[in-house]
This record gives sequence, C-alpha cells and structure tokens, in this order.
Amino acid sequence: MIGSVIFSTILLATVTYAQVPNRATVCTKAKNFGVTFYTPAEMQPILSCIEPQLYLNATDTETVISTGKSCVINNSASKAITALSLYSSFNSCTDLMALLDKLTEPFLTIAAVPINQSIKALENCKKTNTKTGTAKQNACINKMYGKGLAIVTKSLVNQYCTKLSKKMTATEWNCCKTYAVKVVNVKLYKCYNITK
Ligand SMILES: *[C@@H]1O[C@H](CO)[C@@H](O)[C@H](O)[C@H]1NC(C)=O
Ligand SMILES: *[C@@H]1O[C@H](CO)[C@@H](O)[C@H](O)[C@H]1NC(C)=O
Ligand SMILES: *[C@@H]1O[C@H](CO)[C@@H](O)[C@H](O)[C@H]1NC(C)=O
Repeated sequence: MIGSVIFSTILLATVTYAQVPNRATVCTKAKNFGVTFYTPAEMQPILSCIEPQLYLNATDTETVISTGKSCVINNSASKAITALSLYSSFNSCTDLMALLDKLTEPFLTIAAVPINQSIKALENCKKTNTKTGTAKQNACINKMYGKGLAIVTKSLVNQYCTKLSKKMTATEWNCCKTYAVKVVNVKLYKCYNITK
C-alpha cells in the first residue's frame, strides 16, 4: 500500500534506463506483484526522484519517507484526480496519513532484513566503487535495487502483510481491504482473506 505510484515521463525513464537498469526491473516486478495503480513506466520517474536522497543517507528514514511522499506527488500529475478521489474516500473511512505514520515503525521492523541487506549493498558500493558523482550514485543505487530484487518474493510480501494486519484495528484493516483492490491485485495474496 505504501508503494503507490508513479508517473508521466516515459522520456525521463528512457534516458536514465541505461544507467540504472535495475530501476526498470523493480518497476516491472512491482507490476508482477500486483500493482495496478501505476504502470512500470509511471513508477520509474518516482524512483528516480527518490534516489539522490537514498544515496545521500538511506538510514535517515524520516527524510527518505518525506522525500518519497514529495516524489509521488510531484510525479503523479496524470493520476492526480484519481489519486485525490481515492485519498479523500480513504480518509472518510480512516485517516490515511495517521495510519501510514502508525505503520511505519512496525513496517521497518518487519521488513528489516531486506531493508538492511539493501542498505548494506549500497554502503559497500559507496566505499568501494571507484566512479564519482552521478555515475557512482547510479552504480550504487543499481546494486541496492539488485539486492532487494533478489530477496523480495510474493510469499515474503504476504508474510509482511499478515504481520502488519495485526498492527491495525478492525476499522483500519477493513478500510485497507476496501481500497487495496483499487490499487493492487489482491488475489495474489492470502493476506487479503484475513477478517477482523
Ligand atoms: C544518516 O541519518 C541518520 C539518521 O538521521 C544519522 O544518524 C546519520 O548520522 C546519518 N549519516 C550520515 C552519513 O549523514
Ligand atoms: C517537488 O516539487 C516541488 C515544487 O516544484 C519542489 O520544491 C520539490 O523539491 C520537489 N520534491 C522533490 C523530492 O523533488
Ligand atoms: C537492521 O539495521 C538496524 C540499524 O542498523 C538494526 O538496529 C537492526 O537490528 C538490523 N536488523 C536486522 C534484522 O539486521
């Protein structure tokens, strides 16, 4: 659910594809994992927007998350009306931003292994890669994506979803279930069948 988003500039995606090949792979994988709200081409500029902050300091979670939100908003112009309408409907069910804030810490704990492994790959590249500037950033972000791609499976996502469901009240969980169908293919995850 945190995933959402994505965006307009196929051109930008094409231009930057060669430097960070795993970015496109991440976006294709997101589609295979059921994301329907954004196409892979729409997701690429969002990721590209977050990358400088990730490269600067991936462990500064607060700044990464606030930059991420800003990147989603800045790169979702083509989805603005749909997104705004989803957002306001969700809010009439339960406060979406409050729910995201509440779930951030639990999520970081539940997903600590892939997050830490990906950050480790990034940090290791920052120490050892001999390129400089943007070339180095692209090479190291690519390594980070590669590590994440190798670890994350649908079964893992289902496990995380199941654990996160336990952190939600019945109201929150039922709101998520109502709106999840509009942004992901929930049939891929048994977690969706949990009832509260
Ligand atoms: C990254 O951010 C964390 C959390 O704010 C901070 O503790 C750490 O010192 C920062 N690292 C660098 C290299 O700036
Ligand atoms: C989003 O757009 C605003 C307004 O143009 C800009 O100030 C901000 O830096 C952008 N955010 C990111 C993360 O690029
Ligand atoms: C992940 O890294 C954080 C911060 O470095 C640490 O507190 C946590 O124990 C690590 N978790 C795992 C599962 O490695």
